[in-house]
Amino acid sequence: MAQNLKKPGTVLVVGATGSTGRLAVVEALRQGYAVRALVRDLARAARMLPDGVALVAGDLTRPETLGPAIDGVDAIVFTHGTTTSERDVRDNDYAGVANVLRVLRGRRVHIALMTAIGTTRPGVAYAQWKLRSERLVRASGDPYTIVRPGWFDYNQPDQRKVVMLQGDRRQSGSPADGVIARDQIARVLIDSLHIDAANHKTFELIADRGTEQDDLTTVFASLAPDLSGSLDAAEDDVDLPFDNEPETFRRDLATVAAATPR
Ligand SMILES: NC(=O)c1ccc[n+]([C@@H]2O[C@H](COP(=O)([O-])OP(=O)(O)OC[C@H]3O[C@@H](n4cnc5c(N)ncnc54)[C@H](OP(=O)(O)O)[C@@H]3O)[C@@H](O)[C@H]2O)c1
Repeated sequence: MAQNLKKPGTVLVVGATGSTGRLAVVEALRQGYAVRALVRDLARAARMLPDGVALVAGDLTRPETLGPAIDGVDAIVFTHGTTTSERDVRDNDYAGVANVLRVLRGRRVHIALMTAIGTTRPGVAYAQWKLRSERLVRASGDPYTIVRPGWFDYNQPDQRKVVMLQGDRRQSGSPADGVIARDQIARVLIDSLHIDAANHKTFELIADRGTEQDDLTTVFASLAPDLSGSLDAAEDDVDLPFDNEPETFRRDLATVAAATPR
């Protein structure tokens, strides 16, 4: 179990009915947090999620529905997602992060955001919206960790050693880029909330052959932090000049950056 415990009390899991979100709920409960789940269908979520999680209805595309889920939480773990269509990712994956940050109005929370390995590869329109969601989180002024997993559950049973990479250089768009078990993604997301060394870090998450580490503090600590004031991750090679960015993003960025955490 990781050290440096400064556990926030209540964790909101966004995408809690999803394949990784469900495991993030279980892991957060296991680690002793009060857990809240943002869900679109309360009855369906009640069938899918364990006892002990507070279900709160809300839709990421409708900011007016998000207040009850967000109110009073100490941490938000984003595990939601849709398809690889640019419109879906812009209107749900990206807009979900933008809307939550907007509803927070600068109230400080700890954020763990899941995107994907290869998010920075050039010319991939849907991936660029994932990248923009990362940029909003970096600009928010909140403590955060951005986790870009490799291919979910493509790992062999003996591939459990947690590895964190930076620079996003694996961009074949296939499992050759790296693999990771969903339960390990959930563990890393929840661990990042209370391990100081995870703060302001962005990394690709994969597994190598070997056993899973009991404590991930040294793995997080080996990473370079994102540069203060930069929209991009520490070792990324990103060519998305701000002046060419879509108006939606520029407006959201201005709103998020103007809301000073307190
Ligand atoms: N598969 C991989 O190998 C891989 C690797 C790296 C990264 N990823 C990323 O992981 C993300 C999640 O994948 P997954 O397989 O866990 O997805 P999933 O099982 O389909 O779960 C998606 C979650 O997002 C929620 N959601 C979507 N739109 C929403 C909205 N407008 N309001 C509220 N909740 C919303 C869904 O809620 P409902 O249950 O109500 O639909 C569900 O809980 C993907 O976007 C992908 O980019 C995947």
